[in-house]
Amino acid sequence: MSRRPTFVCAACGAAHAKWSGRCDACGAWNTISEEAGLAEGPGAKSLGPARGRRITLGDLAASEPPLPRAFSGIGELDRVLGGGLVPASATLVGGDPGIGKSTLLLQAAAAFGRDAPAIYVSGEEATGQIRMRAARLGLTDAPVRVAAETNLRDILTTLEAERPGLAVIDSIQTMWSDHVDSAPGSVAQVRAVVHELVTFAKRRGIAVVLVGHVTKEGQIAGPRVVEHMVDTVLYFEGERGHHFRILRAVKNRFGPADEIGVFEMTGAGLAEVANPSALFLSEREAAAPGSAVFAGIEGTRPVLVEIQALVAPSPLGTARRAVVGWDSGRLSMVLAVLESRCGIGFGPSDVYLNVAGGLRISEPAADLAVAAALVSARQDIALPRDAVIFGEVSLSGALRPAAQAEARLREAAKLGFASALVPERTALPTAPGIDIDPVADLNAFMDKCF
Ligand code: TYD
Ligand code: MG
Repeated sequence: MSRRPTFVCAACGAAHAKWSGRCDACGAWNTISEEAGLAEGPGAKSLGPARGRRITLGDLAASEPPLPRAFSGIGELDRVLGGGLVPASATLVGGDPGIGKSTLLLQAAAAFGRDAPAIYVSGEEATGQIRMRAARLGLTDAPVRVAAETNLRDILTTLEAERPGLAVIDSIQTMWSDHVDSAPGSVAQVRAVVHELVTFAKRRGIAVVLVGHVTKEGQIAGPRVVEHMVDTVLYFEGERGHHFRILRAVKNRFGPADEIGVFEMTGAGLAEVANPSALFLSEREAAAPGSAVFAGIEGTRPVLVEIQALVAPSPLGTARRAVVGWDSGRLSMVLAVLESRCGIGFGPSDVYLNVAGGLRISEPAADLAVAAALVSARQDIALPRDAVIFGEVSLSGALRPAAQAEARLREAAKLGFASALVPERTALPTAPGIDIDPVADLNAFMDKCF
């Protein structure tokens, strides 16, 4: 059925049923234009004459060239996006308050602005405060437009008039649509706001980046409630006490998920970390018991990290198992395999496991490095300092080779490691420039190291 058009005054935001030269709400002339991308009014029916265009994929390829990606100007961000921003797309950047989302996106908008128009819309800070942040980031003269705005209608009107290549909306919890009665930050508001922004982005070919705070209280909707509505979901992670920040793609319609970008928070904003392995290993002490270096893969990139374990007598009746940066269920499994298959029990002791640097690892290939760190801590015997370890441990105590072994080993060689302890049958098409020490199973590994 026909959609009731809405005409909105750009000066005062008043809505009108038809166009006129003068707004009767505020008296301004030539400020009324048709509002784009707004939801249909009540009573609209979905069934109507078929208007959708149907076309075979082959014809589509010929008639519509692929959309050129635009670079945000921040290499680590472009990498996580899968090679830059895609026009007519919506990206959600989630993270805890204070982790650095606004900083990252103001820097990205400023860098993007050198090539194409960019707008940064903040619902959290006044323009004066944005300017203060920009000054701190050394971006006072950056070619980016900023607006302090929370009304979605005003934002869409601004975007319609400016047609930027990139629009950052900071944050979805502060924006509100007057089509929805509930308060800003409610699920209904957040969904409505994101729906309208995504529709607008698709229709006008704008790359829209939405900021969403991860919230602790239930009153305010978190970024998860809109993950399904956007093309790409990135989370900004890191420990508050650490300087490292990790931007991780958890969903990406235009690139690989699980890709990470690594940043360091400095006094003048976020700096890209070109070599994350060197950074994660930089605080490693001299050969110490309980430390093992895992050669991992995050997304498409090899990353070396230190796994630290501590085994201590438990002051309580029940032993503690505490994990930072790894899965606690997986830790229990490795402990159980060590006990049943190798006879190395941890019984009543407390066990702590930590992935140094604030990275969170989910690869099963870390099993062997975790087992090595645990036994090293328990026996108080240090592992060789210049060796990396990787491989998956199965319940039988057998070891399974990990994928992309060559990339892991090359990274280790680059950082000066001399040898690698890996499962037998690890596929290595070419010599990676490092000594390989293959081990048959978990028992053989323990015999070799301890
Ligand atoms: P911010 O980007 O405001 O976080 P978010 O938008 O995710 O809530 O970052 C806030 C923190 O970053 C704050 O604790 C101060 C710190 N910070 C720096 O260390 N250096 C800087 O240059 C800036 C701008 C912020
Ligand atoms: Mg912010």
